[in-house]
Amino acid sequence: MPGRALLDMKSRLDGLLKEAVVCVEGAAVDKDALLDIKVRYLGRKGGVSSFLKELASLSAEERKAAGEAINQVKDSLEGLIEGRLAALEERARTLALEKERLDVTLPGRRFPLGRRHPVMQVMAEIEAIFRGLGFDVAEGPEIEHDYYNFEALNIPKDHPARDMQDTFYVTEDVLLRTHTSPVQIREMKRVKPPVRIIAPGTVYRKDSDVTHTPMFHQVEVFMVDEGVTFAHLKGVLTQFLQGLFGTDTPLRFRPSFFPFTEPSAEVDIRCVICKGAGCRVCKASGWLEILGAGMIHPEVFKSVGYDYERWSGFAFGLGVERIAMLKYGIDDLRLLFENDLRFLRQF
Ligand code: DAH
Repeated sequence: MPGRALLDMKSRLDGLLKEAVVCVEGAAVDKDALLDIKVRYLGRKGGVSSFLKELASLSAEERKAAGEAINQVKDSLEGLIEGRLAALEERARTLALEKERLDVTLPGRRFPLGRRHPVMQVMAEIEAIFRGLGFDVAEGPEIEHDYYNFEALNIPKDHPARDMQDTFYVTEDVLLRTHTSPVQIREMKRVKPPVRIIAPGTVYRKDSDVTHTPMFHQVEVFMVDEGVTFAHLKGVLTQFLQGLFGTDTPLRFRPSFFPFTEPSAEVDIRCVICKGAGCRVCKASGWLEILGAGMIHPEVFKSVGYDYERWSGFAFGLGVERIAMLKYGIDDLRLLFENDLRFLRQF
């Protein structure tokens, strides 16, 4: 028969266990509270250990049974608390993983990519064609002297051709260039023949309606050497315009007048829209006026100090917006200047 002391001890152990279980339940998901409970009941000075001191007062037989009972309580309490702690740990890890989860199917962030404006695309294409023909690229200032823009190009102050190009003047002798032809003068003054130059750039005219903008782009092309003739002009123009619009594009020359060329011509291509049948774009003529051209005037050679008995050359100039409109079938000039991305993204 176990003695009273042992029975009493077992019942107190039982009470301790029940109390500890209630505490553990109450601590629920609080890790620190669970650790406190662990120390309080299982630590060296904790509740369960205090029973060990009582063992001395028991008989050897009872001591064994009491020891077993103490260990049982200790083990089950330990198991309970460790189980809870492990579950908490697991839960924390799951939460952290969930938070750091990467959705590898998510599309990447797009970098907004710009692209060249259609006018600049056409410029680049024109440049590439002429580079292939051995021409160099030159540029001149947009704010220009009257001398380069007019005078040296055989357009004196009282010349009626000045009315053709409504000019923005900065002062009486300084203006916004009305064409890229002044680059002819600057380049020919800079280098001796032979020269083959293409001069792309921005030009300005006091003009604003459905088909004109006060700022637009031109490309000037000229070549000077010994024995350059109208046939060279025709050959280069054919190469150029068919490179741009396709080899099935016939050209036509009409006599014209420019002060800086003699003879002068206006050059048409067969309408790229209706192929010559006649449409709204070519005003039923079947042809599109595309550029002005001619043989460089002796007066121009005189201005730059070239011997016009020895050298000859051709020149032509064209509007880039017009070419872009024809090439891409754009029917309103304003679209090229409004910078509506829905429009620009199509090129
Ligand atoms: N500079 C002229 C203009 O803006 C275009 C031009 C015509 C240029 C005939 C030339 C040329 O070189 O020969 O209207």
